[in-house]
Amino acid sequence: MKKILVTGAVGQIGSELVMELRKIYGNSNVIATGRKTPPSDKLRESGPFYFIDVADLDSFADLVKKHNVDTIYHLAAILSAVAEAKPNLAWSVNINGLYNVLEVARECTCAVFTPSSIGAFGPTTPPDNTPQDTIQRPNTMYGVTKVAGELLCDYYYKRFGVDTRGLRYPGIISHETLPGGGTTDYAVEIFYEAIKHRKYTCFLQEGTKLDMMYMPDALQSAIDLMEADPARLKHRNAFNVTAMSFAPEDIAAEVKRLIPEFVMSYEVDPVRQGIADSWPNSMDDSCAREEWGWNPKYDLRAMCEDMVRELSKKL
Ligand code: SER
Repeated sequence: MKKILVTGAVGQIGSELVMELRKIYGNSNVIATGRKTPPSDKLRESGPFYFIDVADLDSFADLVKKHNVDTIYHLAAILSAVAEAKPNLAWSVNINGLYNVLEVARECTCAVFTPSSIGAFGPTTPPDNTPQDTIQRPNTMYGVTKVAGELLCDYYYKRFGVDTRGLRYPGIISHETLPGGGTTDYAVEIFYEAIKHRKYTCFLQEGTKLDMMYMPDALQSAIDLMEADPARLKHRNAFNVTAMSFAPEDIAAEVKRLIPEFVMSYEVDPVRQGIADSWPNSMDDSCAREEWGWNPKYDLRAMCEDMVRELSKKL
């Protein structure tokens, strides 16, 4: 049985990934870690939880050794909009944190999953059907750290044989945990506001198409990639994965179909609009489909129906 450690376990993806991994591999085999934010009761009560800062290499290595960890899901990261406001912090968390994780993985022979992002692309990348292997010249700090992270992970694989694997996640939509400071966050906020107030003011303008994915698919993709037969993997860091691509008006129309009084208005945030404009409209994820069987279950309509159903129970 695998012994797994998850960093960033209190974050949007991390908190749900821990619960999913615990279902599959057993509660005590999945160690959740966070830096400062207290975990939910569900997370803390279902298995081991530790506060740890991956910047502290020795304590991190001690924890990995103590639990005989063989697989690290490294999710601790600063998202795009926060990274533009605090580039220094973004470099420190996204690069130095990853470097430490890779060093410990090398020393302790662990496999490493770490997400890259649509943010690893930039304004000179072909925006439609963006290929797996293409131009990556991002103009955001988030993007710089994501490209450097992809290269660093590939380097550790080639040079030291560390089993590194990653995904270029699009915007992730979930009814459990809110994302923190990303450009794609509007596609989550819209549901909260639509259910509570029947209206939403969107910070991206009409026509801004971006790739997105519903949380169950995001979790499945990480788990499937880490379970994939390495002999089939021609790529490692990181695979394009997407489940849907839409602009604000497309998701607004779907929400309106479910909540007829819903009205959307626009108040564009130039920083996040600039970031979104530099990212692809839609990625080609055929390499993920061919090399490890990626096949998402939720499209825009199915995701919206589930989000409205689930969130209406909670709000
Ligand atoms: N959801 C992320 C962000 O907006 C993209 O990786 O920053």
